[in-house]
Amino acid sequence: MSAAGRPKAAAAEERPVTLTALAQSKASDRPVVMVTAYDYPSALIADQAGVDLVLVGDSAANVVLGYESTVPVSVDELLVLTKAVRRGLRRALLVADLPFGSYEASDLEAVHTAQRFVKEGGADAVKLERAGTSIDRARAIVAAGIPVVGHLGLTPQAATALGGYRAQGRTADQAEQLAKDAVALQDAGCFAIVFEAVPAAVTELIVPRLSCLTIGIGAGPATDGQVLVWHDLLGITDGSLAKFVRTFADVRTEMLRGVTAYADAVRAREFPSTEHTYAIPADELADLTVRLAHLG
Ligand code: KIV
Repeated sequence: MSAAGRPKAAAAEERPVTLTALAQSKASDRPVVMVTAYDYPSALIADQAGVDLVLVGDSAANVVLGYESTVPVSVDELLVLTKAVRRGLRRALLVADLPFGSYEASDLEAVHTAQRFVKEGGADAVKLERAGTSIDRARAIVAAGIPVVGHLGLTPQAATALGGYRAQGRTADQAEQLAKDAVALQDAGCFAIVFEAVPAAVTELIVPRLSCLTIGIGAGPATDGQVLVWHDLLGITDGSLAKFVRTFADVRTEMLRGVTAYADAVRAREFPSTEHTYAIPADELADLTVRLAHLG
């Protein structure tokens, strides 16, 4: 991309989003907006659109790296994406997902991985999935000075154990556990919790019991904010979408139209035309023609 073609970052509001500002949004009932992003141009656009939080989700595994699930993606792969997103953000708070297998074994491992995302990736905060041992991991990372976002409900890293990609908290037992887990993550110091694929009525009962920020994806309107995956909301993904996704644009169709038009233009020798071609002064060209003739 040429420098001239780059959209300006953070045109909406330059002041960086802080944890205090997010807490104020919750207090004043102003919905918080989060999206995922995995590269520099998307980060510029998210910032320019005035999004509050950008998540380099491990959903990158599926939507940009082509893995079958989020399980295989590595810290090093997500770090490359996190650094790219960091370069594009001026205002939004940058949250990086801790991938499966990079934080569960011990507090030491969790703190070490979180520090890599902050120090090398430039993340402002990290996100981890589930409750259980993740409660201790969250506490340890917060104690090391790194803000943490929890993630409950459908936690894709544990999809097999959860019986697949399905809504969670649909029995009173499960929903009660969800509420207890949320309070435990909050008490461990999480400044926010993502609720994924949870019945709206359950979220409605849990959210008023929490003072931390709540962000929903397929969890109804009661949370303090919403998050969607970039490729889903823009209609880039080719495949079935979760029930909770609304596509706000049809970017895939436009991309397909553009690439097909380019291929057609090349095959028709219609591109490049003179306007896309560099010239050489006539005398230099004449000189070159003579020289090449001598070369044989
Ligand atoms: O990885 C991701 O994109 C996520 C969001 C769905 C919250 O965790």
